[in-house]
Amino acid sequence: KRLVVLVSGSGTNLQALLDAIAAQGVDAYGAEVVAVGADRDGIAGLERAERAGIPTFVCRVKDHAAREDWDRALAEATAAYEPDLVVSAGFMKIVGKEFLARFGGRFVNTHPALLPSFPGAHGVRDALAYGAKVTGCTVHFVDDGVDTGPIIAQGVVEIVEEDTDDGESALHERIKEVERTLLVDVVGRLARNGFSIEGRKVVIP
Ligand code: GRF
Repeated sequence: KRLVVLVSGSGTNLQALLDAIAAQGVDAYGAEVVAVGADRDGIAGLERAERAGIPTFVCRVKDHAAREDWDRALAEATAAYEPDLVVSAGFMKIVGKEFLARFGGRFVNTHPALLPSFPGAHGVRDALAYGAKVTGCTVHFVDDGVDTGPIIAQGVVEIVEEDTDDGESALHERIKEVERTLLVDVVGRLARNGFSIEGRKVVIP
């Protein structure tokens, strides 16, 4: 299966996918990353793709007159690589109707909180501020809401006293350790076994 991965930052989730595919081989894992897209230049996520010899593309919102134009450009740039699955791994933009029309139902996102709690761009900080005792990460299909699509898998991470002093980055690093493993496992199973989405239920045979 062909994966296009979308990133906006350090790309450690992308790196986990690349490392798993390199270690297992494309056939055993069931998928290969054929391109990496971003909404901005100069990020480590793009460097990781370049180091792996994987084509990259950047679609910046500010290069387009309207948001819909950006959304269409992102969809077209992604479609050019004929992905079977699109994976948002730290991609920090909300895609629009055009992108979802083309990739909805085969577009997966990873979020650093236990949805439906703490959706949006600050899930780690919000869980910490709320005084939650556990948080974690969620891999889900993207729908037309913000972090509201059908959940595929979740991983739990304890919030400890020190996190209050250490701030969200320490907690986020612990979440990312679980998240990377979860994402690699889920993407591989979706690619190898196929899947169906029945309402809010995801079935991977
Ligand atoms: C991940 O925790 C993702 O869930 C969140 O931002 C982080 C991206 O990390 N949206 P990376 O770019 O994969 O290192």
